[in-house]
Order: sequence, then C-alpha cells, then structure tokens
Amino acid sequence: MIAKTCVLLFFIAGVTGCEPEPEQQEGEVTFKEWYRPQFHYTPPSNWMNDPNGMFYYDGQYFLHHQYNPHGITWGHMSWYQAVSDDLVHWDHKGVVIPEEGNEMIFSGGAIVDHENTSGFGEEGETPIIATYSSHYTYEGEDPGFEQAQSLAYSLDGGQTFTKYEGNPVINHEDPDFRDPNVMWHEESDQWIMVVALPIQRKVAFYGSENLREWDHLSNFGPLGNTEGIWECPDFFELPVDGDPENTRWVMHVDINPGAIAGGSGSQYFIGDFDGTEFTLDEDATAFEIVEGAPDDQVLWTDYGTDFYAAISWSDIPEEDGRRLWLGWMSNWEYANVKPTSPWRSAQSIPRTVELVSVEDEIRMAQQPIEELQQLREDHHTLENINIENENISLDDRGVSGKAYEIIAELDAGTAEVFGIEVRGGDNQETVIGYDIEDEILFVDRTNSGDVGFNENFATVSEAPLSLNGETLKLQIFVDWSSVEVFAEDGTKVLTKRIFPHPESRDVRLFSEGGQANLVSMDFWSLRSIWD
Ligand code: FRU
Repeated sequence: MIAKTCVLLFFIAGVTGCEPEPEQQEGEVTFKEWYRPQFHYTPPSNWMNDPNGMFYYDGQYFLHHQYNPHGITWGHMSWYQAVSDDLVHWDHKGVVIPEEGNEMIFSGGAIVDHENTSGFGEEGETPIIATYSSHYTYEGEDPGFEQAQSLAYSLDGGQTFTKYEGNPVINHEDPDFRDPNVMWHEESDQWIMVVALPIQRKVAFYGSENLREWDHLSNFGPLGNTEGIWECPDFFELPVDGDPENTRWVMHVDINPGAIAGGSGSQYFIGDFDGTEFTLDEDATAFEIVEGAPDDQVLWTDYGTDFYAAISWSDIPEEDGRRLWLGWMSNWEYANVKPTSPWRSAQSIPRTVELVSVEDEIRMAQQPIEELQQLREDHHTLENINIENENISLDDRGVSGKAYEIIAELDAGTAEVFGIEVRGGDNQETVIGYDIEDEILFVDRTNSGDVGFNENFATVSEAPLSLNGETLKLQIFVDWSSVEVFAEDGTKVLTKRIFPHPESRDVRLFSEGGQANLVSMDFWSLRSIWD
C-alpha cells in the first residue's frame, strides 16, 4: 500500500520528495531496498561511519567500521567486522569491539604483530593488534569527555578481540585526541603511530617497540587546509612511478568542515620521514604549503562530497605490493539524514593508491581495484557518436541500468560543455560533465533524485582538469546510490552519493554550445555482490 503511494507520488509530484517507504524504515533486510548499494560494502542494518582496523591475514581481508548496534544515527560507537577473500564480497561478522560503560570505541587501525613484539601472543601465536580511541564521557557535576589511545588484541586470527587491561596506552592533555593508526618503520626499527589532535589541526607521531609503551616523537601541522578539524590520519610510504629507489611518505588527513566540495573531505601531504619527523617535499608539490592554504594550494584526495576517513589495509603481502584503501562514502553535513533504511551509509569501492609524477610534480593517483572486474557482465561497446547540442539516450543500444561501470573517451570538438548523464529518468539525471572554458570536470547532483533531505545536498562538485587538446578519459562506477568518477589517470577522483528513483536507468550523452564526439565507450552491468 505504502509502496503504491510512493509510485503514485512519483507520477503526480515528480521524483523529488518521494521518500523511501516507511515500511523499509522499520526494516526487513533484503539487500534490494531502495538505494541499497549493490557492489559497495554496507552493513545489513544500522548506522555506519569510518572504516577502521583494516588488515590482511591468512588469505582474508578484514574491514572493521564505526557502527551503532542500537540505531540508524550516530551513537554507541563500536567496531563491526566484515571479512572478504577478494575485497569484493563481504561476510558480515558483527560487533567485535563493543562500547562498554562510559567508553565508546572510536576510529583507529590494526596491524599483524608477526614477531609478537607486543608479547600478547603465546606459544607461537601471532597477535593482531587493533589501536582505537577510547572516548570516555563523564556526567555529573563536571560533564565532558576525554579521548585516549587503547589497544585490543586478537589471538585467533582476527575473529575475536580482547581489550588490553592496561588501557589506555596514551593520554593527552587535549581531550580531542583520536584515530590512531600504526605502522612498522623498518629504518628506525619501531612501531609508529599517527594520531590526530583535531582541534589543533595537528597529527602527533608516537614511537614504540612493543605497542604498549609509546614515546611522543613530533607533531605535524597545522598546514594546508585548517578550516575544519583534523581527523583519521593515515601515513604510508610509496614508490614514485613504481620506482622502489624513489619513495615518498604520504600523510592523509581528513577535515571537517571546509573541504573542497563542502562539509567534510580529505587532503594529503607528500614528504619524507626519518623515524621522528615528517617533513614536506615542496618540490613535489610545486607550491608552498602554508597554514590555512587556499583551496588551489591543497592536495585533495577526492574532489567529491563523499569520501571521508579513508585508511589503508595493513599487511598486504609483499608479492601483491599494492597500497589499498577505501573511504566512508558520506559527509558529516548530512550523514545522519540520508534517506536509506534499515541501514545508513556505505564504503567506497576499494582503490589502489599510488604516487605518480605529473610533469615535475608528484601526485596521488587512485584506481579501482581490478578484483571488481569479476562483477562485469553484459558488455556493450560504442564508438564514434556525434553529440550536437542534444541529449542522446543510449537505451536502444543496450546501455542503461542501476549498477554499472563505464570506460569512456570523449572528444570536446566544438562543444563548450559535454559529458555523460547517468541514472537519468523523468526530469532526473546526475551529470558528469566537462566545461571547456573553466577547464573543470564536474559532477552535478542538483537534479539527481531525492535531494531534499538536507539543504547542503544538492551540489555540483568540481575538479580542475586541463585537456591540453587531448580527449577526456573517464572511468565511472555507478551504483544504486552513488557515483565514482576517475579521471586523468586517477589523479582526479570525484565521489558522490545520489538517491535516484529506481526507475531512473538512462545513460545519456550530451553537449552544449557545439558538437562533441564519443570516441569510444565500454559499458558493463555490474552483478550484485549480495546475490
Ligand atoms: C570521523 C570521526 C572520528 C571518530 C569517529 C567517531 O568521522 O569523527 O574522528 O573517531 O568519527 O565515530
């Protein structure tokens, strides 16, 4: 009955304003609900935010995440676990590090302690150590909160975790002190922890030999974008253009609010690390990194609205060698009110992270992991389609759907603006376009479907991109409620959530101000990972 009302409303009032059926809010979990991502990770039900404690062990990729066991908005933070053997299909395992008493379990990382440096393992056991922030709240006469860094260890390959009785292991006079991420630093022969001092816009470095006792080493920041608080640092060394002799360290930090697309987002810094201090390589960046830098002098990880708190998997086998991560596909501006139920939020697709040289500079490049290709089916190729001040639906060429991947090459020709519309419907579309004059790649979701649940949702996100007379090459992943666009060899990425009507399945080519050309397009429907 309610479902029919929604369809009726769709015809009377147009798509916007058609909320998901209330019966879904109460929530039978079907993995076919309106807006349920089909190839992105989601928990079956309830609230999720940041990815946490990601590591590889014994053939399995572990993903933990911030989770509310009691509801569909933020609260009661605990770590929920999911496990995969291919980074694509996930088994939901449930809460493994729960909130207890006045202590919530905030974000952090995890590593495999192969040498048992921590001493948590007995008789050849390999401990896995999760580092998280204990968020203690105090009521009564002097209400407030305090954050400190804590450990939990697993002695059964990551299936269960025990909180360390000596917690917390690091305190700070600043009560805002969170999101510890640990990595082994070969040259200085110690564990390094990066942890945010959000209000101070700093990342603190700590060093340890046994993961239990930590020495403060240095602080990084405030630098770059300092408008919002700093959260969820990740820190890793990468070869430049794959050359192991030429490496740099990447510091990735989230900011909320004040990011390029509005609300929360993330920036990165490139530099060197000597075991104590991280120093910027400004030659690599080609501009001076100052505190409170303007938007065009910040290295943005993603130019869309919905990529936050990304952290990378630890302990990926050397023979694989990739740095892999994913981010929370949401934004604190509207995270709590997105129109989904009985779950809320999704993680991005897993991506590789690399450093590449772009002329004399060094930039981060992200690419979708190739494991996703197993989901491809129903392949269509198109070539040489002229687009002259029109919108061309590709439906009669077999190109349409709700979950798919596109690899496309477009020639600007004489057009001023051109591109591809996805999830098109009756007066509805998400526009992925290029503006010749402004040299901007954009994703416009102002008319993408349900945009009315928050005043800051109907946005256009933009990334600077110079074609220099070349064609525009795009790789696009569209799911039931998201778009991820990879351009310029992965150095420009735009991630955005959308909430289109399920009937909006059109893929269209468009141009304005002249004639553009679709040089080629590969289109694959993507199978659901939940089947
Ligand atoms: C980032 C964040 C973290 C914190 C967690 C709490 O999204 O605010 O800084 O640990 O969420 O859920």
